[in-house]
Amino acid sequence: MRVLVTGGAGFIGSQIVRTLAADGHEPVVLDALLPSAHGASVPPPPPGVRSVVADVRDREAVAGALTGIDAVCHQAAMVGLGKDFADAPQYVGCNDFGTAVLLAEMAAAGIRYLVLAGSMVVYGEGRYDCPRHGGVRPGPRSVADLDAGRFEPRCPSCRSELVPGLVTEDAPVDPRNVYAATKLAQEHLAAAWTRATGGRAVALRYHNVYGPGMPRDTPYAGVASFFRSALARGESPRVFEDGGQRRDFVHVRDVATANVTALAALRERGPGSFDAYNTGSGVPHTIGEMAWALASAHGGPAPVVTGEYRLGDVRHVTADSRRLREELGWKPATDFVTGMREFATEPLRGAG
Ligand SMILES: NC(=O)c1ccc[n+]([C@@H]2O[C@H](COP(=O)([O-])OP(=O)(O)OC[C@H]3O[C@@H](n4cnc5c(N)ncnc54)[C@H](O)[C@@H]3O)[C@@H](O)[C@H]2O)c1
Ligand SMILES: [Zn+2]
Repeated sequence: MRVLVTGGAGFIGSQIVRTLAADGHEPVVLDALLPSAHGASVPPPPPGVRSVVADVRDREAVAGALTGIDAVCHQAAMVGLGKDFADAPQYVGCNDFGTAVLLAEMAAAGIRYLVLAGSMVVYGEGRYDCPRHGGVRPGPRSVADLDAGRFEPRCPSCRSELVPGLVTEDAPVDPRNVYAATKLAQEHLAAAWTRATGGRAVALRYHNVYGPGMPRDTPYAGVASFFRSALARGESPRVFEDGGQRRDFVHVRDVATANVTALAALRERGPGSFDAYNTGSGVPHTIGEMAWALASAHGGPAPVVTGEYRLGDVRHVTADSRRLREELGWKPATDFVTGMREFATEPLRGAG
């Protein structure tokens, strides 16, 4: 298959490019090489891979890059929480307007297969059970609770402490920041495209992806990268809240194989189909556990739990990725201990 990988110079996209090439496909990269993602240094594409430096919002460039392409793997996006609300137009431009341009050009070129990089952020706060009220959906945590160190969300009816559970794909969506809203809108656009054109799309809702080539600690990066960067400077990883936040850390190589598996599966789907799959390791860990795993593999210093918080962060969100395993036969290959041990010493991208 000849596959256009948008964002193919990025952390996840570049791994997808390598995996596609290793599996005998022909990847083509389209990436604007955003300074917020890359800083000054951009690694070259692997030898023999065609690479177009262009923005997904640029109709002509996208149309040109789509020539001769069988399927698109759409990873290009502005990621992370950004600096403040002033970033909103940039996020919506790159992520949603950009997706609309890409889909319009795919429709014009008659390309019918799309894998979209989705995100767990569309769910907002994860799934919880109250001992008295069963499944409940707590709203955002209050500043008063957070200031007092009460980090666990409480039952909206009885204020009991809740037990976190695994989020399935049919959970209600609840995007809580601009980035999350743009990731959900991308899915809605992709679904509308399948209905209008008879295309087939799969959205992979990635959990917290980590591994080699992860961007260094910019406001756009993920928590594993903050900890890893601190250790590289000889400083303690600073763990917010009490470190008990639960996440699912999935290795970037496993995310890449999930993309290649989904691309193959699209061929079996009927016209107009759209499906979203949680993409996680299936084994939740806390942020504190991750900080300790990285610090000990790196040889210290030990993490410090600061009690600080970021408004808008969710307390727990962990995926149930069973559907992706059962329906598409994907299996993650790198476990937490091995992956974190490797990651503790691997280079980050753009880290000078
Ligand atoms: N890293 C994670 O943990 C994670 C989790 C969930 C979802 N995702 C999604 O995975 C995808 C890839 O993220 P990543 O972590 O590799 O980030 P990244 O910043 O490393 O890569 C994104 C790439 O997209 C490019 N890009 C951004 N806007 C563009 C535009 N308008 N036109 C062309 N190129 C553009 C950037 O230059 C960059 O190379 C994104 O869609 C992101 O939302 C990532
Ligand atoms: Zn209750």
